[in-house]
Amino acid sequence: MLILGIDTSCDDTGVGLVRIDGGVPVVVANTVWTQMVHAKFGGVMPELASREHVERIDEVTVAALSEAGVKMSDIDAVAATHGPGLVGALLVGLLYGKGLAQGLGKPFYAVHHLEGHIYAAASEAELAPPYLALVVSGGHTHLFDIERVGEYKLVGATRDDAAGEAFDKVARLLDLGFPGGPAISRAAESGDAAAVPFTRPLAGQGGFDFSFSGLKTAALLAVRGGRYRTEDIAASFQRAVVDALVTTTRRAARTLGRDTVVVSGGVAANAALREAFGATDLRVFFPGRGLNTDNGAMIALAGAAAVLAGREVEGLSAGAAAYLP
Ligand code: KG4
Ligand code: ZN
Repeated sequence: MLILGIDTSCDDTGVGLVRIDGGVPVVVANTVWTQMVHAKFGGVMPELASREHVERIDEVTVAALSEAGVKMSDIDAVAATHGPGLVGALLVGLLYGKGLAQGLGKPFYAVHHLEGHIYAAASEAELAPPYLALVVSGGHTHLFDIERVGEYKLVGATRDDAAGEAFDKVARLLDLGFPGGPAISRAAESGDAAAVPFTRPLAGQGGFDFSFSGLKTAALLAVRGGRYRTEDIAASFQRAVVDALVTTTRRAARTLGRDTVVVSGGVAANAALREAFGATDLRVFFPGRGLNTDNGAMIALAGAAAVLAGREVEGLSAGAAAYLP
C-alpha cells in the first residue's frame, strides 16, 4: 500500500510517500521545498507562504513521485495536514490532497500536524503504543502519552517558550545566527558545559511541564556579565535544556509506566539531546534524516499508522484550522 502525505502548514511545501511493507511503514520519498521569500522580513509572511505553496505544490508532488519511482495512479491513499498552522497555507495542501484523493477514487486522511511529528520516527521501526512522545520544535515542547493510535494525552508542555525558540533566542544573544539550534550545538562543541551554573527550571516540581524563559534571561545576564566565553555559555545552556527535557521525560515514563519514548521535531536533531536520551534506560526512537523538521513524509506516516491500526478516518469534511486541540 502506497500513501502520499502533504504538509503545507507553514513555510515548507512538503510531499512524501510511504509504502506499508509487511506491516511496517517505510518512507520511499520525502521532498521539501523551503521558501526563501521570508528571509528578508525576518519572519514568515502568511500571504506569501500561501502563494508560494500554490506555485510549488505540483512540482514538489511530481518530484516526490519520481524520487520513489512511482506514478500518480499507484497511490492508494492521500493524507494532508489540516491544522494547526497558517490557514491560507494549510488550505493549499489540504485541498490539493482532497482533490487528488477524489480524482483517484482513494481514501483521504486529515492529519493533525503534531501527529505527523509523532509518527516521524515510525519509518522502518517496530514502534507500537503504548509510548511517550516528546515533540520539541520552534513552536512546540509537548509531551504526550499514547495508549493507542489516535488517542493522545498531553501530559506536559512548556509554560513559556518552546525549546527551539529558546535555542533561537539565546543564539541571537550570542550573535551566532539563525536557526539557533544548530549554531549553539556547533559552538558548544568547543565549550565547557559546566562553566555557567544555570539552574534547572521546574526540576523539583511534581508535574511534567517545561519552562525555558528563565534560562533565556540567565543566559542574557551571563552574556552581559562578560565573564564567560561564548562557547561556554552555549555549552552550559544546551546542557541545561537537554537536562530538563531528559529528566522530566524519564520521570514521566517512570510515573506512567512507559519504557518507550519517541523524540521528534527540529530540536530532536540535537546531538547532545540524542546522546543524553541514548544513555537512559528508555527505548528511544528518533526520526531519520530529513524527518525532524516539517515534511510531507511524516504526514504519510501518520496516515499509515491509522491504516495499520484499522482506524476509520473520514477526512474529506475536515477544514483547515489555525488552532486544533
Ligand atoms: O520542527 P522545526 O523545523 O520547525 C517548527 O518549529 O515547526 O523546528 C525548528 C527548531 C528551531 O528552533 C531550531 O533552532 C531547532 O528546531 N533546531 C535545533 C537543532 N536543529 C534545529 N535545536 C537544537 N539543536 C539542533 N541541532
Ligand atoms: Zn512542525
